[in-house]
Amino acid sequence: MSSLDDQARAIIRGNDRGGYTLPTRGLYPYQWNWDSAFAAWGFATFDNPRAWDELDTLMASQWDTGMVPHIIFHTPDPGYFPGPEIWRTGQTPPTSGITQPPVAATMARLVWEMDPEAGHDRMAALYPKLLAWHRWWHEVRCTHGPAAITHPWESGRDNCPDWDIGMAGVNGADAGPYERRDTGHVDPEMRPTKEDYDRYITMVNFGRNAGWDQAQVVADGPFLMADPGITFMLLRADEDLAVMGRALGHDVTELEGWAKALRDALPLIWNEELGAYDARDLRTGQFANVLGSGAFLAYLADAGNPTLDAQLMRVWDSVSYGIPSADPEAAIFNPRKYWRGPTWPVLNALLAVGLRDSGRTDLAERLRAETESLIRQHGFYEYFDPNDATPCGGADFTWTAAIWLTWAGQGAEADAVRGAA
Ligand code: GLC
Repeated sequence: MSSLDDQARAIIRGNDRGGYTLPTRGLYPYQWNWDSAFAAWGFATFDNPRAWDELDTLMASQWDTGMVPHIIFHTPDPGYFPGPEIWRTGQTPPTSGITQPPVAATMARLVWEMDPEAGHDRMAALYPKLLAWHRWWHEVRCTHGPAAITHPWESGRDNCPDWDIGMAGVNGADAGPYERRDTGHVDPEMRPTKEDYDRYITMVNFGRNAGWDQAQVVADGPFLMADPGITFMLLRADEDLAVMGRALGHDVTELEGWAKALRDALPLIWNEELGAYDARDLRTGQFANVLGSGAFLAYLADAGNPTLDAQLMRVWDSVSYGIPSADPEAAIFNPRKYWRGPTWPVLNALLAVGLRDSGRTDLAERLRAETESLIRQHGFYEYFDPNDATPCGGADFTWTAAIWLTWAGQGAEADAVRGAA
């Protein structure tokens, strides 16, 4: 029996398609945006140049607008829906028409810190592309203040209760006939419902019919919500990019301005009644009124406060393993349903980076130990039941393997987060 470190490396190598890595075989047969950023971090523990290749391949599919798509369809695979023939974005290779959480700059910084000399030129080449992506976020998607998403899939937390109020406003009746593929790979009970899927496809159809014109999608699309999770990830990534820009000798005034504007906008997503950051429908102003893992990503951007601290501990103490994706005391909580309760190792890793940076090493270590236990018991699954550790979703997952190598499997003595300065 090989060590878990060996297994993690074998999973990443096994999902490597040459320059990019699949999240997992079968369920996700293409390159996914934020999965790739985590894959780069994992690669950096044993193959630093390959880590930079992963980020290069991701950024090579950046659109002229600056957007970096959520999926890149390198090689056709009939096992996935909706494929390139549904999105029809006109890109080569084909891509989806929406984006995903901008964690690439944060991961690039961690990779760079693991080998500063080798990374210098690689980062110098990536810098303008990451800057252009961040510019796109700020100019196109932060027009209301916080970062907005036009499809739940952009959040990376696809099916979480945060989006229920926005989804309710989407009429899925005209989605047309289509055949899902996800439910053929994993237990349909863990996946979104047919009604949800009709709405997801309706949003894709709107974007395609608009020729993926962002101004039109933001102004008139069926869904527009402020995402606390992306807001915090973008804020953190702006600051990471600024650190790297300074080290490369660039003027980072523009980046600093974006980060300040975003931080100033945080009160707009603070729901006083809920006592937490919250998603918000930007068409109506209505709060989602659900506490989930997006709010806790505040710690990644040093935006916590005592009220949120109390919520974090309440939610965390009511389960046994990691941070649940939804509040266990809320009616909506389901410990095995996609983003509606389970814990995701990769989000635990992001939170731990934030907790470590704010000096809360005891909490970061608790989170690491709980995440380690999940993986030791069951392997490198996509996500887990936070009450009884039942493994859920896809197996042999790239980002779970990556965060094992960088963090979860490394014990307190290994500085807890690889890439720590
Ligand atoms: C699911 C997740 C998303 C992830 C993708 C590939 O769609 O919700 O965050 O990027 O799977 O792992």
